[in-house]
Amino acid sequence: MKKRSTRPESFEDVLDAYLARRGFLKAGLALGAAAILPGCSQSDDKQPSGEPPLSTLSFTELPHDLNEHFAVAEGYDAQVLVRWGDPLFENMSGFDPRAQTAQEQERRFGFNNDFIGFVSLPLGSSSSDHGLLVVNHEYTAPQLMHPGSPLGTQLSAAQADVDIAAHGLSVIEIKRVDGQWQQIKNSQYTRRITPNTPMKVSGPAAGNTRLKTIISMDGVHTLGTYGNCAGGVTPWGTILTGEENVDGYFNGDASQTSEAENYARFGVDVTYKNWGDYHPRWNFQENPNELLHMGWIVEIDPFDPNSTPRKRTALGRCKHEGCNIYITDDNHVAAYTGDDQRFEYIYKFISRDRYDPNDREAAMRLLDEGTLYVAKFHDDGRLSWLPLVYGEGPLTEANGFRSQGDVCIDSRKAADLVGATPMDRPEDVEVNPVNGRVYAMLTNNSMRAEGQTDAVNPRAHNAHGQIVEFWPESGDHRDATFRWDLFLLAGKPGTVPTKYHPDISESGWLSCPDNCAFDLHGNLWIATDGAEKSGVADGVWASEVEGPNRALTKRFLRTPIGAELCGPFFTPNNETLFVSVQHPGGDSSFDAPDTRWPDFDASLPPRPSVVAISKRGGGPVGS
Ligand code: FEO
Ligand code: CA
Ligand code: CA
Ligand code: CA
Repeated sequence: MKKRSTRPESFEDVLDAYLARRGFLKAGLALGAAAILPGCSQSDDKQPSGEPPLSTLSFTELPHDLNEHFAVAEGYDAQVLVRWGDPLFENMSGFDPRAQTAQEQERRFGFNNDFIGFVSLPLGSSSSDHGLLVVNHEYTAPQLMHPGSPLGTQLSAAQADVDIAAHGLSVIEIKRVDGQWQQIKNSQYTRRITPNTPMKVSGPAAGNTRLKTIISMDGVHTLGTYGNCAGGVTPWGTILTGEENVDGYFNGDASQTSEAENYARFGVDVTYKNWGDYHPRWNFQENPNELLHMGWIVEIDPFDPNSTPRKRTALGRCKHEGCNIYITDDNHVAAYTGDDQRFEYIYKFISRDRYDPNDREAAMRLLDEGTLYVAKFHDDGRLSWLPLVYGEGPLTEANGFRSQGDVCIDSRKAADLVGATPMDRPEDVEVNPVNGRVYAMLTNNSMRAEGQTDAVNPRAHNAHGQIVEFWPESGDHRDATFRWDLFLLAGKPGTVPTKYHPDISESGWLSCPDNCAFDLHGNLWIATDGAEKSGVADGVWASEVEGPNRALTKRFLRTPIGAELCGPFFTPNNETLFVSVQHPGGDSSFDAPDTRWPDFDASLPPRPSVVAISKRGGGPVGS
């Protein structure tokens, strides 16, 4: 049985249990934790019996507001760690946004940072002061990148190449010295991954004839990743990154290709890039199957800058928000992913083989073999995981599937056929390592009509989203049946039906949950993308998940105007919370931005940046 959270005896126990749940190596950790967390023991044993336990979220709540600045709760420091355009390698000049080149951008921090993963150095340690930061650069906002380039302007050939180079991921080495994080620029690990980085397709769809294109003779070799939204860190120290809105990068007419049916179901509705004007790879008529190379979870080994990232096709192809791993009691890998579009699905993958913490090479093959499932939520509180297996049920040649590779390439269609539950835009889906329950951020769904509601998506015209919790009653994540519950229904109380703890403050409500993280107590930290539509800045809220303070959400930080908040990620000791401020300035322009955060320099536009938050005087963030 997975334990439901019991109040731990000491912080050391909490850290130990947390890391064990995540499957991380724990060698030497007990001593390390004691050294890292002086004086942080829990106060249960000091309380008179019968008193409710003290909240593990004792920070002073930050009020709602909406302005040019980033703000965090009183008593916390926010250090801007790395910004779009910052040089990542040694001996590079400062950033001049008026003199951008693709060659330069390939060596600088990309645009619109989203997911953040921190992996300790050395590999296998749980250092909280030294590690690799891996950051997604989801997309670009050319109107904020180039002078004289209003929203919607087509990119020139040179701008398109800069734009391409500003996508992908960055890997940097960082170290905390005297309380300040700094990048190690002569690091052997520094890497920019772009849409042109050589990669390989692995798993059931590798070599599928449908994947043979002008960039791939064999359907195995491929190039690059883009639209990288959220992701996860595996217990073996690799990064999983989700390819999400990959359809908008193409010119031409998808309906006139041999993949027209797939593309219609995948959704190819908007063209927001004209890369295809300059590169045939992104033109449907010249390269009709390129889009089948996209929409996967990509695994990257940040410890080897020469490693070839792998597209893990066994996890299905859709508009993946991210992917988070949980090691089951018998050491199988459970991987949870959300498909972020209105009425799309939540998936679970269970590895065929077991994870062996002493065999990293084998661990890097675990996501290639296993079973993919999709979630059906019943109104009575049950959740059925429906297998997507070639040859089973409707997934046969009669419906166009000729292999498991086809099932993976067409996973949305397969999920439709087995009867999965269409959700209100699944974003992060992540297991709480303390209580073993899964939490899914459903961000919103304006298109859900009155007659389309169900118990798990209970509001029509859902502008604010909800958080759903689900768990295997036996504690075994391989179970075919789980239970589920609504953790909260977001939005401003009084304006729409909501569900929170009744005691939330004026600033406790949130809207459009997107990413999440868990601290050592199992508290849920929620990042939002869309609160501004309700008149307040996006940011982070934290909540206990069990006990008398369940769903008592408290605002912890605010983004500058126009920005969403992504990628909250804690160091193992919780003393630093990394957050991603994406698209500050929103739809305003380089020449007349709504904010110039974080530089506030009249010669610079606002810049998407990663911020490191820590408690003044030390100690875990939040408590
Ligand atoms: Fe890129 Fe699902 O947000
Ligand atoms: Ca997201
Ligand atoms: Ca997360
Ligand atoms: Ca988002």
